[in-house]
Amino acid sequence: MALEITIERSAQLKQKPDENKLGFGQYYTDHMFILEYTEGKGWHSGRVVPYQNISLDPAAKVFHYGQTVFEGMKAYRTEDGIKLFRPKKNFERLNKSNARLSIPHLDEELAYEGLIKLLDVDREWVPSAEGTSLYIRPFIIATEPALGVNPSLNYLFMIIMSPVGAYYAEGVNPVKIHVESHFVRAVAGGVGEAKTAGNYAAGLNAQEEAKDRGYSQVLWLDGVHRKYIEEVGSMNVFFKINGVVVTPQLNGSILNGITRNSVITLLKHWDVPVEERRISIDELIEAHRNGQLEEAFGTGTAAVISPIGELSYNDEKYVINEGKTGELSSKIYDTITGIQKGTVEDPFGWLVSL
Ligand code: COI
Repeated sequence: MALEITIERSAQLKQKPDENKLGFGQYYTDHMFILEYTEGKGWHSGRVVPYQNISLDPAAKVFHYGQTVFEGMKAYRTEDGIKLFRPKKNFERLNKSNARLSIPHLDEELAYEGLIKLLDVDREWVPSAEGTSLYIRPFIIATEPALGVNPSLNYLFMIIMSPVGAYYAEGVNPVKIHVESHFVRAVAGGVGEAKTAGNYAAGLNAQEEAKDRGYSQVLWLDGVHRKYIEEVGSMNVFFKINGVVVTPQLNGSILNGITRNSVITLLKHWDVPVEERRISIDELIEAHRNGQLEEAFGTGTAAVISPIGELSYNDEKYVINEGKTGELSSKIYDTITGIQKGTVEDPFGWLVSL
C-alpha cells in the first residue's frame, strides 16, 4: 500500500529574500519534508511540515561516525511552469550513496512524491530572476543514540529547499582553481563516489589554504600517485585539449555528476570528440605549455558550468584562454541553462514538469 504523505502548513510565512541578492544556501523556504526510518518498521511517517529545528540525542550516530548522505538538485521557474532537471537521477544516486554508507534503501518513488508535495506547497519560492533557481537538498542522517560503531537502527530523510543565485562569487565568470598536491580528497575503495559529508569536511582545510592564496576551490589529484586529476569537490572537471574534450573517467573515487553526464551527452550529440579517461596533471601542464589547453570548466548542480580561467600548481600559475570564458564552455552553459529554463529545445527529455 502506498504510504500517505501528510501536509501541515506553516501558520506564518516568511518574507522572501531579494532575488537579486540570493547568494547560495542562505535562505530556506517555509516548509520541509521528513520521512522516518525505524528498524523493523522501515520508512514511515512521511510529512511536509513547517521548516523548523530538529531535536536529536547528542549520541545520534551521525554526530560521531558521519553516517549521512545528501543530494543536490534544482527546480526552475519557466514560462511553462515549474520544472525539475533529471530529478530521478538524484534519487538513484542517493541510493548508491546509501548502499556505500550502510543506510537502508529508500523507496525512490516515495522520496520523489515527498519532493513533489513539498514543492507544491512552497512553489512561490521558486525564483525567476536570471541565474536563479530553487536548490533542493535531500539528505539522510543516522539518528540512533548509540556509540557502538555499527549501522544506525534509525534514520531521518529530509528535504530542505533554498532559493539560490550563483554558487561562486565570480558568478558566471571564470574561477581560479588551486591544484592540491599535499592533501587528498578520496582514495579508490573509499567513499569518494558517495555524496557523503566526510568527503566535503576532508576538503575544507585545503580549500581554506587555497582561498588565502586567492583561489576559489581545490582541484584534487588521485590519492595514490597524486598525479591523476579527480574533481573539484563541488564540481567535476573538463578540459578541451587540442579540440578534444577530456574528463576524468569514473573510477570509484570521484562523484558521478548528473551535470557531468548531461555535458558528455550534449557533446556527443554535437559530435564534439569527448573522452572519459585518466588524465595526469603533467599531461595538462604539457598541453598548456604547447598552447593546446584551450578551455577548462567545472560542472555541477550548484555550480552549473563554471569556466576555469587559471590553475595554480606547485607555485606556478597557468592561465587558460587568457582567463576568459571559452567558446565551448559558453555554448554548453547556454544550452544546459536554456534547457533548464525551457528556452532551448530539450531533445533528451531531461526536464520534468511539476
Ligand atoms: C551540488 O552541486 O549540488 C553539490 O552537491 C555541490 C556542493 C554545493 C556540495
